Amino acid sequence: MHNLQSGGGCLQGQNIYSSKEPPIFFLIMRFNIKIALIFLISISIFTMLVLYSICNTDTINSQNPNDSSVNAKAFEAQGSEEIDCDINGEYVIGCKKEGIEVYIPFSFLRRYFEVNGKLATNDGISRFEWSHSYSKIYHPKSKYDPRGVYMYFENYNVEVRDRVKCVSATDGVPVSTQWESQGYYYPTQIAQFGLSHYSKNLTEPEPRRKIIEDGEKELAKWIIPQSAALQRTWNHNVDSEILEFKTSENYNEAIKLKLDHVLDFVMRLDILLNGNSSLTVILQNRETKDAYFLHYIFSDILITSQDSNIYHGIGSTMEWKKLTRDLIVDLQKGLNYASKDKSKHKIPRSKLKVIDIMLRGSGAIDNLTLSSSEHMQQFYDAAEWFVKYQDADTGGWPIPVKRRLASGFMVLESGWYSAMGQGHAISVLARAFYHSDGDERYLNAALNGLKPFRLPSSEGGVLATFLNKFHWYEEYPTKPASYVLNGFIYSILGLYDLMSIAPVDQAQEAEFLYNEGITTLKNMLPLFDMGSATVYDLRHFTLGIAPNLARWDYHATHINQLLLLDTIEEEPLFQTTAERWIGYMNGKRADHN
Ligand SMILES: *[C@@H]1O[C@H](CO)[C@@H](O)[C@H](O)[C@H]1NC(C)=O
Ligand SMILES: *[C@@H]1O[C@H](CO)[C@@H](O)[C@H](O)[C@H]1NC(C)=O
Ligand SMILES: *[C@@H]1O[C@H](CO)[C@@H](O)[C@H](O)[C@H]1NC(C)=O
Ligand SMILES: *[C@@H]1O[C@H](CO)[C@@H](O)[C@H](O)[C@H]1NC(C)=O
Repeated sequence: MHNLQSGGGCLQGQNIYSSKEPPIFFLIMRFNIKIALIFLISISIFTMLVLYSICNTDTINSQNPNDSSVNAKAFEAQGSEEIDCDINGEYVIGCKKEGIEVYIPFSFLRRYFEVNGKLATNDGISRFEWSHSYSKIYHPKSKYDPRGVYMYFENYNVEVRDRVKCVSATDGVPVSTQWESQGYYYPTQIAQFGLSHYSKNLTEPEPRRKIIEDGEKELAKWIIPQSAALQRTWNHNVDSEILEFKTSENYNEAIKLKLDHVLDFVMRLDILLNGNSSLTVILQNRETKDAYFLHYIFSDILITSQDSNIYHGIGSTMEWKKLTRDLIVDLQKGLNYASKDKSKHKIPRSKLKVIDIMLRGSGAIDNLTLSSSEHMQQFYDAAEWFVKYQDADTGGWPIPVKRRLASGFMVLESGWYSAMGQGHAISVLARAFYHSDGDERYLNAALNGLKPFRLPSSEGGVLATFLNKFHWYEEYPTKPASYVLNGFIYSILGLYDLMSIAPVDQAQEAEFLYNEGITTLKNMLPLFDMGSATVYDLRHFTLGIAPNLARWDYHATHINQLLLLDTIEEEPLFQTTAERWIGYMNGKRADHN
């Protein structure tokens, strides 16, 4: 999977030493001429790690004679000298020597060993904090509940990620630019969007919600130009009082509502637009007084922008739609749309307010609200997407872009299925079935989504069989098989969700596939353990190339997944493996001979 790292701030502390900075801080190691060449590799074994500050040692005070800062002071007293440090006979860097200690620049170590470190100050005392990895482990607080929070996805904010082009106003789900800049629907990302909103609904405080206009109790003071008409009428189709509007073709003669609304920027309404019609929300920067126009228009256009005008198409059918928009996300995506520099346009939420809503053309609206969040609406937008865009025959949600996982694997042609996408979708749909008190459309889509799990990758499914024995569900159904671990576990989590939530007589297939997956995992999990890291997949086995070590956020995902499985499976291997892998994040290694 590819959507983890921007979710949770896991890269912090990494940029303290950019490669261009001068090496001011040094790591002290016990030094011995004979082992000069291996000491770098054995860094964690030579344990005397001391921070040495050239300019700052005078201020450091300590009662503890073993305290590193005191040692640093002692070294300073002896005086230090510049010394060349020959790195494996390949090149030379500048180091320092003091007595028998040699100090290696941390900026070098950071890159050489891919470790992290930062200078921290606590109570006026600085110290250097070394951390082997940068990722976060989530220890489950209780047994995993398929009706509850999905993993730790309440921390995700899928739609603000850079590789999300925008949230479609037609379908209410994110559009990815990860593998194609034009933008496309990526089932895995849409499911993560849905699961994060479902999880936030369960973990966040109740939203503030202000009804602006509902045609009945809350009536807003619309300003209606002479040439326009506005009326509240009963509509039989929706069984409700609605607001019908019609304006002249003159763009400047819109129906207008003045607002002065801060903090809560999630808009929800029922809307029906006729051709050439639109609803516009005007946001203002309270400091600069700049105004931004978010136009929701009768059109199939995804997003476009011009100066401070941002357009999202809500589709081109004249029917009632439930529109849920995070106005801040829409503004940000719109401003980024025309710009190369994504950071330039970031406007903090606290600086914005809604000052106007305008109606143009003809149509009707109802139930217009502004809230701090609308998590369930957004969750259901995702669930509806999976109902609408499933291939009814194959049960798959096609991924409409080509993908080459690595050279050596055959290209996945546009339209491929992912076990992770399927599993994630099933996790969304199972929750929608549960939360909607049994809407069969969600259950049927979830059950149908199981089909590709039985079908080999070579026949358009997601099934690989390891050494003719173990069934594996492929995140990328490559030839040869790739065996991506995190995607596999996400897929079996979807199976678990469905077998737990579906009525008993319809749960067998999911349960069968889940049990097969768990058997596979018990047998194959050790293959992913490299003794100080994990591998992302088994390409070293299937392609005979170098192993694809998992970077720390994927390594942490592996651990988080095992910790979760440990709450639902009586399998000590998941727990013991997770613990060993946590050790790797703190620099521990498996014993050697
Ligand atoms: C300092 O280190 C020595 C040897 O590691 C140890 O025996 C001693 O207890 C330590 N002293 C303090 C104050 O920590
Ligand atoms: C969560 O959803 C329920 C409806 O299922 C709603 O009543 C509640 O206000 C929502 N809470 C949050 C924090 O979104
Ligand atoms: C507005 O909300 C009410 C109450 O939930 C509902 O009955 C009505 O159908 C909604 N209006 C539209 C146009 O969907
Ligand atoms: C939109 O306006 C144009 C020009 O006024 C007109 O030709 C077209 O038919 C309109 N489209 C719809 C769907 O009403």
